[in-house]
Amino acid sequence: MSERSPYLPVRARLEDVRVESSTIRTVVLAPEEEIRFRTGQFVELTVPGVGEAPFTPSSNPRRAERMEVTILRAGRVTSAIHALAPGAEIGVRGPYGNGYDLGALSGKDLAIIGGGVGLAPLRSLVLEVLEEPERFGAIRIRFGAREPGELIFRGEIERWRRHPSVDLALTVDRAGGDGWTENVGVVTTILQDVAPNPARTEAIVCGPPVMLKFTTLKLLELGIPAASIHLSMERNMSCGVGHCGHCRLGKYYVCVDGPVLTYDKIQAEVDAWF
Ligand SMILES: Cc1cc2nc3c(=O)[nH]c(=O)nc-3n(C[C@H](O)[C@H](O)[C@H](O)COP(=O)(O)OP(=O)(O)OC[C@H]3O[C@@H](n4cnc5c(N)ncnc54)[C@H](O)[C@@H]3O)c2cc1C
Ligand code: FES
Repeated sequence: MSERSPYLPVRARLEDVRVESSTIRTVVLAPEEEIRFRTGQFVELTVPGVGEAPFTPSSNPRRAERMEVTILRAGRVTSAIHALAPGAEIGVRGPYGNGYDLGALSGKDLAIIGGGVGLAPLRSLVLEVLEEPERFGAIRIRFGAREPGELIFRGEIERWRRHPSVDLALTVDRAGGDGWTENVGVVTTILQDVAPNPARTEAIVCGPPVMLKFTTLKLLELGIPAASIHLSMERNMSCGVGHCGHCRLGKYYVCVDGPVLTYDKIQAEVDAWF
């Protein structure tokens, strides 16, 4: 059987839509052909007549027959996806980029840190890690959102919290009035105990640029080596396959060499956080 071209979109049927918050939805896609991806890789979703945009699947890569993508409404393409109803068709091309190297994370303590819609690829990672938790040391998860209503995947997070290998803490920037009983503050305020053994910890971080920046500085302060801080970098992307140069970060093309880059590779770049 011939290999599928990575440049051609595969048609996928939108099977379900889950409302995660007022601005975030998860779409459940059934592609016509199975799309195998590594957690942390990204795909380009095409809405016919509107355009395409990159997203990192939030589902378990070991369940390739259904792909879930968690999408924050930002502009044209994301609004068009939010407006789709079950039964609609969408194009998926990819996967692209490197994703998380689970082999390199094996045997290590994991510090999985996310903010906002950055929880999407981390959900995929956690679901895969929890398939074989014995491969890893302690799994410490720290998630943040602006407000309780914007903290997505709440039901699953509570299930992960009960897992014997998992140590999990949540925070919100503003508690509001809806019974929030956990930490209030930005995500760096719940990182103090995330790496009791920094030399054997691999930190995986995904969130908005300002959160990546201050989380990285905190992790360095805790003693985690720059090469053990794995950052999901977002850049404006066009081709997704290393041709157009839109996603350039120093000598790297984020679409091919990333989106996951360790901090040692980008620390000299003045525009790393923008
Ligand atoms: C590798 C990668 C993975 C991503 N994964 C996810 C994901 O899982 N879920 C998710 O919700 N979003 C994800 N994004 C961001 C998503 O691609 C953008 O939100 C989307 O391209 C916006 O498209 P739009 O047509 O709706 O907005 P546009 O109409 O193009 O723009 C709306 C606004 O968003 C800004 N914008 C456009 N593209 C980006 C971008 N790449 N990053 C930040 N701001 C942007 C524009 O400057 C503008 O202000 C990812 C981006 C990358 C590069
Ligand atoms: S998006 Fe074209 S080179 Fe990366």
